[in-house]
Amino acid sequence: MTTPAVSALVANSISLIRREQHPSGSYPACPSYPTYRYCWFRDGSFIADAMSRAGEVASAEAFFGWCTRVLTTRSDRIAALAGAGPGSPRVYLPTRYELDGGESVTPWANFQVDGYGTWLRVLVDHCARHRRPVAPYSAALNLTVDYLNAVGTLPCYDWWEEFPEQRHTSTLAAVSSGLKAALSSEALTSDRRGAAVATSGEIDRLVAADTRRHGRLGKWLGSDVADGSLLACLTSYGTLAVDDPVAERTVAAIRDSLVREGVYRYAGDTFYGGGEWINLTAWLGWYEVLRGDSSNARRRLDWIASQADGGLLPEQVTGRAQRPEHIAHWERTWGAVATPLLWSHAMFLTLATACR
Ligand code: BGC
Repeated sequence: MTTPAVSALVANSISLIRREQHPSGSYPACPSYPTYRYCWFRDGSFIADAMSRAGEVASAEAFFGWCTRVLTTRSDRIAALAGAGPGSPRVYLPTRYELDGGESVTPWANFQVDGYGTWLRVLVDHCARHRRPVAPYSAALNLTVDYLNAVGTLPCYDWWEEFPEQRHTSTLAAVSSGLKAALSSEALTSDRRGAAVATSGEIDRLVAADTRRHGRLGKWLGSDVADGSLLACLTSYGTLAVDDPVAERTVAAIRDSLVREGVYRYAGDTFYGGGEWINLTAWLGWYEVLRGDSSNARRRLDWIASQADGGLLPEQVTGRAQRPEHIAHWERTWGAVATPLLWSHAMFLTLATACR
């Protein structure tokens, strides 16, 4: 049974995302938090996915149009990367853009690959879901495949913009999922198919070999640490079937170390003290829906709705932060926890849609 609080927050989330979408089609990560007044491929893709699932076709397609412009205006850079030999200088694409698609001059942990894989997955799923043509995005889809083939298995910053020396499981899963989405689309040109199969196959082998060592997915290759982002491997990216024993052990490890009412990113997180993240809580609920555990999924939905203040969701809630002594430092540095975080609203919408 959907509660009035959940219904109200669903309506509010859709109107907030619509209202904050920039005329260019980009979504700001958080309009009221200076560090997040930019568009990330990661956040933006999950926001577009939620809007697509909620039937907001025009909003999702405006975002895909923005991605297309961002990528096609950088085709020379992608071509140079794709042709770069070992040791040649590499100018990677950023993770965070100005809302008009320009590049921010503020330094950032910019080499993150997951968002480019995620946008391909979300784009292809959207076109199939709503029977929409993929042709308007075909040049960008092909360029993204070139980019992922060139850089998709390199170490890079993770979802949380940390640990750039590692190869992160959820990042690799995003790349493989995006390449498989492209392979399932008639828009992918035949000369790119071999490389896309090779890169996604290499990733799948790397991840499978790693899980054989630990019995479950880990934060990065060689690690047995749990991370909330791994929930996307079992839902958004489809890396494993939800009832695969490896998936079950991964979720068991997340439940053991990261779940209170909401879900922590990873043990020992100090960002705003390392609180419970709204988006990850929705991901856990989504996994539970797929396992047929609708009562726990609804509990997550209700808990998220109870965290909204005036209809707005934060990035994380810090009442049970793991390291509360770090909260003041971040408040002084970047301000109060980012609210409203559009990615939180998006994942709430995705969970609410899955619970219907
Ligand atoms: C998170 C990223 C996110 C960004 C914008 C960062 O604090 O670690 O995952 O993309 O905020 O929401």
